[in-house]
Amino acid sequence: MASSEPWITLGRTLEASRRLFEDPSRDVLLATLDDAPVGFAVFTLIGPFSGYIQSLAVIPTARSAGIGSALMRHAEARIFEASPNVFLCVSSFNDRARDFYERAGYELIGELRDYFVRGHSELLFRKSRGPWNDFDANARSSEDDGQIIPAN
Ligand SMILES: CC(C)(COP(=O)(O)OP(=O)(O)OC[C@H]1O[C@@H](n2cnc3c(N)ncnc32)[C@H](O)[C@@H]1OP(=O)(O)O)[C@@H](O)C(=O)NCCC(=O)NCCS
Repeated sequence: MASSEPWITLGRTLEASRRLFEDPSRDVLLATLDDAPVGFAVFTLIGPFSGYIQSLAVIPTARSAGIGSALMRHAEARIFEASPNVFLCVSSFNDRARDFYERAGYELIGELRDYFVRGHSELLFRKSRGPWNDFDANARSSEDDGQIIPAN
């Protein structure tokens, strides 16, 4: 992660990358090929916008083989059990990842200017299965405390 874009431009160190995997509020999916790790997705079900995919990466030599899409499908399946929304951010300079998410049905909903580094934005995307009021409450997991749910 630390030696790959977009994290080089974002100034993400190896230490900061490691901390992401040690955070108990995060879920981690690992993709392996012949027992070797080739990709990961990190997401969280906790917080006001639960269902946030924080990081997704596949090692350069294993890209364009469907591994990133498979990681996304697994993360989404887990999130959609608990919430009708999946959120994620893409750096404004990461055009290929943006295309990848748009093809997977994500819609741009906002821009966070100068969020990590001056001159670059983080673009907030959402994939939705509909409003919270139509979401089956029985399908929600017990981990969804603290979400923003319409009060009426
Ligand atoms: C985005 C990423 C996870 C996709 O993983 P993947 O296993 O290559 O995904 P898939 O094989 O399912 O889909 C491939 C598509 O991803 C897109 N893609 C996005 N970034 C890419 C990259 N750096 N290299 C190759 N493909 C990339 C391409 O559109 C590609 O389509 P193509 O094969 O027709 O060219 C992977 O490319 C990656 O790790 N990129 C660098 C890290 C990154 O940008 N992560 C997203 C941060 S928000």
